[in-house]
Amino acid sequence: MQPPGLVKRFNGNRRFDFNSRESTAVQGRIRAAIISIMRRGKFITFEGLDGTGKSTQMRKLARALRAAGYKVVETREPGGTATGEKIRRVLLDSATQGLSPQAEMALMFAARAQHIAEVILPALERGEIVLCDRFTDSTEAYQGYGRRLGSQAVLSLHKLLGGNLQPDLTVLLDSDPRMSLGRARRRNQQASRTKQTSLKKHAGDENRFEQENRAFFARVREGYDAIAVREPHRVIKVDASGTPRSTHRRIMKAIATAVNLSSHTR
Ligand code: TYD
Repeated sequence: MQPPGLVKRFNGNRRFDFNSRESTAVQGRIRAAIISIMRRGKFITFEGLDGTGKSTQMRKLARALRAAGYKVVETREPGGTATGEKIRRVLLDSATQGLSPQAEMALMFAARAQHIAEVILPALERGEIVLCDRFTDSTEAYQGYGRRLGSQAVLSLHKLLGGNLQPDLTVLLDSDPRMSLGRARRRNQQASRTKQTSLKKHAGDENRFEQENRAFFARVREGYDAIAVREPHRVIKVDASGTPRSTHRRIMKAIATAVNLSSHTR
């Protein structure tokens, strides 16, 4: 049985309010428990440095799962909702200057809270498989380690604003940072050139993070490694330095052993 009142509360409807004296921490734990009881679908996230081929691999996995008869939702962060995509533009546009690390982290969580309420939880409740390009591990790696805000701040905010929703499986794509970042930079420059020559002259670019230096990305990678060591039951690290096809094969193997999909709505 679903507890509709509590779900609604998570979505921002205060009709079924908790006791106001209840501490935030307790509310967070209750919400997390409810989410885990309600979830019938599977939540799979893709993580890694920019340019590791996450989007390509996610598309390939979605195609394979659909061919096997599963219902699949493909989404991404920051973004995934109309509001989230607006926030994404602010976050990724290199014209956004002087954004404080704290404001950056808050915007990531604002987009995520909306994404969870509007897209992820409803799909999981319908029993579907949600594939998400980046989730809270990105915030821990980029803001927690990259911007040095610390893991604790990220994990606490995730409890408060993200219901502590945890993926069933996280595919962490690993490749040489110089190679992947070079690829991401070339891709984004190409995309902004296309925008400049098209009618979307003021559409902005997605280069803000790629402009960070090597030390920043070394910290991000260190963050991902720490998460993988801390949560080996959830995070599988996949070598993405080969061809997209060989990486896809590795991912399919890992998915088959790590997540029992057979009981899902086909
Ligand atoms: P995106 O285009 O999704 O990544 P990629 O270049 O790998 O395809 O860009 C999203 C950027 O936002 C990426 O540089 C990582 C950053 N990011 C954070 O810093 N924190 C977060 O919580 C998320 C979700 C993304």
